[in-house]
Parts: sequence; structure tokens; C-alpha cells
Amino acid sequence: MHIFRTKTVSAGDCADSGLKRCLSAVDLTLLGIGAIIGTGIFVLTGIAAATQAGPAVVLSFIFSGLACAFAALAYAELAACVGGCGSAYGYSYAAFGELIAWIIGWDLILEYAISVAAVANGWSGYFNNALAAIGLALPDYLTMAPEKGGIINLPAAAIVFLLMGLLITGVQESARLNTVMVTIKVLAIAVFVAVASAHVDPVHWDPFMPFGWFGHDLNGKPIGVLAGASIVFFAYVGFDAVSTAAEEARNPMRDVPIGIIGSLVFCTLIYILVAGLLTGIVPYTELNVSSPVAHALQLLGVRWASGLVATGVIAGLTTVMLVLYYALTRIIFAMSRDGLMSPWFSAVNRRTQTPVRVIVLCGLCISAIAGLIPLGELAELVNIGTLFAFVLVCLGVIVLRVTRPELKRPFKTPAVPWFPIFGALSCGALMAFLPALTWLRFVIWLGLGIAIYLAYSYRHSKLAEQTAD
Ligand code: ALA
Repeated sequence: MHIFRTKTVSAGDCADSGLKRCLSAVDLTLLGIGAIIGTGIFVLTGIAAATQAGPAVVLSFIFSGLACAFAALAYAELAACVGGCGSAYGYSYAAFGELIAWIIGWDLILEYAISVAAVANGWSGYFNNALAAIGLALPDYLTMAPEKGGIINLPAAAIVFLLMGLLITGVQESARLNTVMVTIKVLAIAVFVAVASAHVDPVHWDPFMPFGWFGHDLNGKPIGVLAGASIVFFAYVGFDAVSTAAEEARNPMRDVPIGIIGSLVFCTLIYILVAGLLTGIVPYTELNVSSPVAHALQLLGVRWASGLVATGVIAGLTTVMLVLYYALTRIIFAMSRDGLMSPWFSAVNRRTQTPVRVIVLCGLCISAIAGLIPLGELAELVNIGTLFAFVLVCLGVIVLRVTRPELKRPFKTPAVPWFPIFGALSCGALMAFLPALTWLRFVIWLGLGIAIYLAYSYRHSKLAEQTAD
């Protein structure tokens, strides 16, 4: 069997995919910020501070940010050199061969689809709060999944439908709306930073590390700064999505690295600032709520700022869903084009120049998941999947430097092999801090993927036509 057959790479040249090349470096950076800042900082910071790290959640952000920085450099090199819209899937295809590429692609489908559904749930909570504030709250049975006593989480399902329509309309329109919403989101953060800066009381930072570096609570769940890092990692998920836009970028070799690294640096600084201020204005024990940032401002008595920030969060979560949904469709598109999934998925609509079928199918599935299943704990599943992809991308840089030294590399990761090794080790360590149940779910998902590969993809792969058994 040729399960390790690799795809040839030729210095960033990708076949004309029919997708429209219209995104600039600024668009790509905003796409990254759109995908990155969301539930992680607006919701999980509070939960991680209250239950896992205390005020030292700032350190959790620094640790996971560092792991992401190494991975981002690796992504930037591979995006500029291998190209294609398949992101880590495409790079693995070139570096490690088909089976690993399939596993990563399958893993990315999980990462992005579950992320969108999870964020849709968070969005629904904020949205319903906003409706309640103007006296139009929806009844519980329309805002909760059956498992929680409702019929359907209608706003969560509906927002996915709206985004589906937007993505069908066209990538440029989506990027434009993304820019507007990213601006609102950043303004909301600026309001929080300005108000919170005036209310910091250093007393709240003591004790700074109430749960230590790493340990387990009474239920055996990992706690401490490092366990916190493996949770708040969710806040960084998304910068990798920039690399899925390579085939729609005007100058991908230059602009995709700018988009990846620029958006990550910007967001890391924001996270450290916001986490520090949030734990400095109220006791960390107050932060285990669904809207910690708005809640903290309310505790300070600054209601107008709380309302403004909540509005920004609604816009912010919308952009996260939009970009991750977009990335999901492009990964499936790439896998289908390579023959690993049915060609039905890679048809591009001539009028909109978007892969309409895959957008609709993903929209229906995610909408159903978002409407019917409460997804809180699945953030961990998203993290393990993403970290796994990051480990392979870091290793992929080293492998390709050895196997394909002649490739043109418009962007080079510094200090190879050390930076990629640090990246693989730190991402691997964050995986190790995740709960055992998360590992089990992840392994089941991968097992299912391998079964599909053996049953369908192996025989239908485009590479199979070139490789005789
Ligand atoms: N990084 C994204 C968020 O925090 C997924 O919502």
C-alpha cells in the first residue's frame, strides 16, 4: 500500500482553482483577528481564572501564546512555500504523505466545525441577553438544546444559516463585513481597557497563583497555570485559518505570512492586557460566568461600558464563526480536489466563484449541531485537534527542509530546527495537560477517519492514478 505517497510541491504555484484572488495583506490580517478574538478571551478567560489559574491566567496566555508563536512561524513558512488552500492538510501531504495528511484534514474538519457550533452557542447567549435588555427575550425552549430542557437553540442555528448565505454570496463581501465587525470588536476591547485601567486594584492579584503550576482537583480534572494554558489556547485558535485563504490572496507568498504573524502578535498583546486587567478589577472568584468581561464592568457599576462591550462581543463572535466556517469549507474543498473526498464537494459556482455545495452542506450540519447540542466542554476537543495539527506543521518544516531543500522559501522560520522543535514540544505538552476524556474522544474521531480513508479515500486519491499498487 502507498499510504505515505507524497504530493509534489513546486514553490507555491497552485493550480487555478476557480476561486477569486481578491484578499490583500490587510484583509488577511483582519481575517486572522476576526477568527482569533472571540469566546476564548470573552468567556474562557473568566472560567480559567476562576477554576484553574487565578490571576496567573495571564501566564497561561503567555505560555500558550508562545507555543502558538512557534507554530505560526512554521505555518508562515509552509504557507509561502507549499501554498494551496488546504492549510496544515496540504503541508502534511507534501511532507509526510497521504495518510497523515488525511488524518490532519479530518482533524481540521473537527476543529473548525465544532468551533463554529460552540461559538454559535456562546453568540446565542449574548444575543438573547441583548434581546432581554429590550424586553424581547425568547422563551427558554427556543434558546436551549433538548438536553438542557429546551427544543432547539434557535438563535445559534439561525446565525449559522445567515453566515451560510453570506459565504455563498462571495468571499469579498464576507471579507468586507468581517472588516466592519472586527473594527467593532476591537473598539469594544478598547472601551474595556480604558475603563478597566482606571479601576485596577492590585489587591485582586494576590494570591497570584492560587492553583499552582499544575495539579488535579477533587474530580481529577487538571488545574493550575499549565492546565489553564491548555484551555485558553482556544483563544488563539483561528490564526491558522489565514493559511486556508492562500488561493484567494492576491500575493499569497508575501501576504499570508504577514496575515498569520501579524494577527497572532496583535491578539497575544490584547489577551495579556485584557486578562491582566480583568483579574485586576474584580476578585478572580467572580469570573466564572458566561460573560465575564461584561459582568466585571457591571460589578464596577459602569453599566454603559458593559452594554457596549456586550455589543462588541456579539460582533466579535460573529467574525470568529464566519472565518472558521470559511476555513472549514476550504479544507473540505482541498481534500475533495485531491480525490480524498467525493468530487461533488469541490464544484465552484461560476457566478459567485464560491464552493456553494460544500458551504451549504457544512451550514446544515453545523446549524443542526449548534441548535441541538450544548457544546461547552467540546472546546477541549477543538484544542486537542488544533494542537495536533500544530505539532505536525512544526515537524513538517524540518522534514521539508531536509527532503526538499531546493524549494523557494519566501518566508523562512528562524533557528530551524530549534524553533519548530520548541513548537512541537510546547504544543505536545499542552495536549498532555488536557483531560483523559478529551483524548478518548479525539482518538475515536481519528479512528473513524482512518476507517473512511481505507474504505474510500485511498482508492479514489488523485495520487492513486500516479502510483501503481
Ligand atoms: N479563537 C477563537 C475564539 O476564541 C476560536 O473564539
